[in-house]
Amino acid sequence: MQANMFNGDYYKNITVMIDEEKLKARIEELGAQISKDYEGKTLKLICILKGSVIFTCELAKRITVPVLFDFMQVSSYGSGTTSSGTVRIKKDLDEDIEGQDVLVVEDIVDSGNTLYRLLPMLRERKPASLKVVTLLDKPERREVPMEVDYNGFTIPDEFVVGYGLDFDQKYRHLPFVGIFHPEK
Ligand code: IMP
Ligand code: MG
Repeated sequence: MQANMFNGDYYKNITVMIDEEKLKARIEELGAQISKDYEGKTLKLICILKGSVIFTCELAKRITVPVLFDFMQVSSYGSGTTSSGTVRIKKDLDEDIEGQDVLVVEDIVDSGNTLYRLLPMLRERKPASLKVVTLLDKPERREVPMEVDYNGFTIPDEFVVGYGLDFDQKYRHLPFVGIFHPEK
């Protein structure tokens, strides 16, 4: 089992929540749905760095309409594990999105603040359409109204790592989504 490959001291605080097989199966479904919804169009995927990198790659491989990539990095001011009301663009898109069909790829929607601030900024750039896909959704933590167009998994209020998500920049490489237990 994959989780047993990650059993040293470095991984002692982590237990598997969603294994690689389940992630792959769900991402395949999302890819099929998105391919159907965007039939006849070219899709611009906006990967939100760094957390969405792995999900973006896995999803893109399963989308059959033409796909373009761009990357953006944003940061929320505030304390470590929660985001505040302001979003700063640390790395902007390389290309214009005017007239394009844009799908923002997120790792997780938590308080909702990041997307709540980011989406209006992207809308101002006049894309033909603007939707969001997230791998994970933690609705219990929502501070602002935010519903995404495509969601991989709704999860309970736990701090998770792996498949791109980090704790203090660590554990992004794990091929599964795991719960991080700081006290363990
Ligand atoms: P927001 O609270 O919806 O604005 O989420 C902002 C960002 O917080 C996400 O894109 C993640 O990078 C990070 N985040 C939220 N919950 C978790 C978690 O459980 N593990 C790792 N990162 C998280
Ligand atoms: Mg993130």
